[in-house]
Amino acid sequence: MAVPRNDPVDLWIQWTDRFADREYEQAVELLSAAEHARWQKLIRERNRREYAAAHALVRRALSARTGRPPASWTFRSDEGGKPCIDTEDCDLRFNMAHTDGLVACAIVRTGEIGIDVETIDRIAQPMDIAARHFSEREVRDLLACSAAERRTRFIELWTLKEAWLKATGTGLRSHLGDFAFEWVDPAGLRFIPPPTTAPGIWRFLLLAPGDRHRLALAIHCTGPVHLHVMGEASHTTRVLPVLRASVPD
Ligand SMILES: CC(C)(COP(=O)(O)OP(=O)(O)OC[C@H]1O[C@@H](n2cnc3c(N)ncnc32)[C@H](O)[C@@H]1OP(=O)(O)O)[C@@H](O)C(=O)NCCC(=O)NCCS
Repeated sequence: MAVPRNDPVDLWIQWTDRFADREYEQAVELLSAAEHARWQKLIRERNRREYAAAHALVRRALSARTGRPPASWTFRSDEGGKPCIDTEDCDLRFNMAHTDGLVACAIVRTGEIGIDVETIDRIAQPMDIAARHFSEREVRDLLACSAAERRTRFIELWTLKEAWLKATGTGLRSHLGDFAFEWVDPAGLRFIPPPTTAPGIWRFLLLAPGDRHRLALAIHCTGPVHLHVMGEASHTTRVLPVLRASVPD
């Protein structure tokens, strides 16, 4: 089902380098036994902080939307492996992502949503990956960029692709070259879906939470996207620029 018109998309972000030790402890306390077991298995402290921050952020975000206590949420994976709420009488959908220094989650009442965050300096040789996995059109567009622009554009495409895969819940089972994103001037995006995709309306937003990060949202949606930037980012909405948004077909 698509996100109905006027249903807001709540976007929450948390910078993990600003995550105080007390906040970290509180986040760990919110984890379920299963989440705690996964957290304990993580070897690097940075990954542990990001995991706790992301999972606590989802709980707080769901609670802000419903008034239920953050510790009360239970989760399961759907048939495709995508985490979803396993709490009675709640039709909210969410998705989360973590990367170096930043975690984020997005929530809608119905429909599908996917989110991804990445650092723009993550991949040194983007063309090797793009040539193997991206569509011909995307490879052509990347080659037309200046060398300086190319790494950033690659990560922007990556986050958009991953956000859509996460929205559909198919993960790596979809081939990355079967669908594409095209830049439309001045600040638009065009989504070229795989031929097998059922008709539906997908909308995308590409944001820059900071100079070093890119964030993409994929929303299955019947109307314009009403984005509510919440939590830590809400006082900096003006500095969470939407770089690009999808244009109608
Ligand atoms: C599962 C997958 C989506 C996770 O991606 P990732 O970059 O490692 O991690 P992210 O930080 O973006 O997202 C992780 C979160 O996504 C969620 N997630 C897990 N499986 C998911 C699925 N099938 N669908 C949607 N979300 C999923 C979880 O909440 C997970 O958090 P957790 O591991 O703390 O529980 C990934 O393994 C995958 O299949 N990625 C798509 C293919 C790809 O490599 N794309 C590159 C684009 S060029």
